[in-house]
This record gives sequence, structure tokens and C-alpha cells, in this order.
Amino acid sequence: MSLDQESGGLALATAAPHAFVRLAPPSGSTWFTRHPGSASAKIREKAVCTPGIPQGVLEQYRKLAASLHHSQAEHGTRIIMMASTLASEGKTLTATNLALTLSESYRRRVLLIDADLRRPTVQLMFDLPNVSGLNDALHGDEDARCSIFDVSTHLSILTAGRPNQDPMSGLTSDRMRRLITAAATEFDWVIIDTPPVGILPDANLLAAMVDTVILVVAAGGTPFRLVNRAVEAIGRDRIFGVVLNKVHAEDLWGGYSSYSYYGYGTQDDQR
Ligand SMILES: Nc1ncnc2c1ncn2[C@@H]1O[C@H](COP(=O)(O)OP(=O)(O)O)[C@@H](O)[C@H]1O
Ligand SMILES: [Mg+2]
Repeated sequence: MSLDQESGGLALATAAPHAFVRLAPPSGSTWFTRHPGSASAKIREKAVCTPGIPQGVLEQYRKLAASLHHSQAEHGTRIIMMASTLASEGKTLTATNLALTLSESYRRRVLLIDADLRRPTVQLMFDLPNVSGLNDALHGDEDARCSIFDVSTHLSILTAGRPNQDPMSGLTSDRMRRLITAAATEFDWVIIDTPPVGILPDANLLAAMVDTVILVVAAGGTPFRLVNRAVEAIGRDRIFGVVLNKVHAEDLWGGYSSYSYYGYGTQDDQR
């Protein structure tokens, strides 16, 4: 029976069974073998699937993935906002490496969404075209399905699309809420790379749409008072944990390597 018959002619809104159109990446563009020397190759150097990444680095991402996995089992956590106070603290790299770890090591279905609409870079990480994406889904035809790229068996990417210098209204809109809710029905994990909180006056509105927030902090770089302000803007109780990023390996293990290191602490660690 159609909804129209049942409701006496009133059309009821229902969620589309599949809100996304799955696209294969353009030919020649596969994650593991691509254009050495290109801007993308450079930006991918620190991705966990690049050969030569130190084992200790891989372990830090696995630790983060394991605590999220645990949180999913306990609390149904599924939608993550990757936030930072300022630009260049490492949100995109952390979001990418977490997405790769959850999809490759845990074999979970992951959608990585580039919501940093002012400065989108996820397409560079995965060598994808950025002609259409989240911004178009938020401002285009309401009925159009959103195109995503399946870059591996378990990992899909929604690029940012046309850059938008005023991203806030779209990111906090009901359409954004519907899009991430639909994503959470098709994927085990939805990871949202977002603009820095410093330029996101309504960070709490976006944070309220997700299950939890991971705050990336560049070690030794971001003033504590600004980090504190970002925590207040997001809402302390919304934050799952902090990734302390760009920590020098020597600071951790006395000269193990000159490669920057990653660490994270959960709220429990901070008590
Ligand atoms: N732990 C790290 N060690 C070394 N370089 C890093 C680390 N995290 C991020 N970077 C580099 O810092 C730059 C900014 O990182 P990115 O993830 O793009 O930041 P954001 O998305 O917060 O603006 C990139 O060149 C990235 O490769
Ligand atoms: Mg970024």
C-alpha cells in the first residue's frame, strides 16, 4: 500500500533506502599505486598504508581504533567529528589514518566525509576529483542522491565539492543532519573532517549531530587557552578524546626517530 493511500493523500517523508550513489575512483586512481612525485603522493607520505611508516605509528592508530571499536560495542558510537582548534593541526591526516585503520584492519565499512568546505584536502589524499561533493549535496537539488567514491572494499569517500567560504549554515543544517543519519545506516563508521573550531562559531551545533568528537591538538603548537576555548565551544561532554599530534619521537623515546609521532589520550587519561 502506498503512503498516499494510507495517509489519505498526505505524502509522508521517508528515508531513501540508499542515499548514496557509489562510484569507482577514476581509472588509474587507485589508493596504492599512484603518480609518484605528485602533490597527492607527497600528502600521502604519512598515511598508514604508505610503506615505511614506523610500526609505533601504526600502533597508535590501532589503539585509537580499538577504543572507538569498544565504544561502538558499548554505546553504539558510529559518527565521529574530527576537530581541531586551528588549521594544520592534523585533522585530515588523523581522519584519513583512522578511516584506513578501521576499514583495513577492522574490516568495517567506513565513510570519510570532507566537511572542511573552506579548505578541502581529502580529495588530495585519495587522488579524487573534487567537482561535486558535500557542499553540492547541502545546497543542490534536495532529491539528488549524493555521489561517493568507493576507494577500497570497505572505505568510501565523500569529497567536499565546490569550496564554500561560508560553510557554517550548510554544515549545521537539517540537510547535513539527514545526510549523516543516512550515512550511519549504510556504514559502520562515519568520520567527518571539519573546519577548525576557531572559524566555526557554531561548532556545538555540528557536535550535537554526531555521536562523539575527537580533538586533534598539535603538540607544542597550539596555545592552551585556545584549546580550552575550543573544548568549551564543542562542549566538553561531547569529546571522546584528544589526539596529541606532531609529538617528536625523541620526546617520547629518546631519539628513536626524527619522524613526528602521534599519541592520544582519552578523557580517562586526563583525570
Ligand atoms: N603527526 C604528524 N607528523 C608529521 N606531519 C604531520 C603530522 N600530522 C599532520 N602532519 C602534516 O601537517 C600538515 C597539516 O596536516 P593536516 O592533516 O592537513 O591538518 P588539518 O587538516 O588539521 O589542517 C600536513 O602536511 C600533514 O602531512
Ligand atoms: Mg584538513
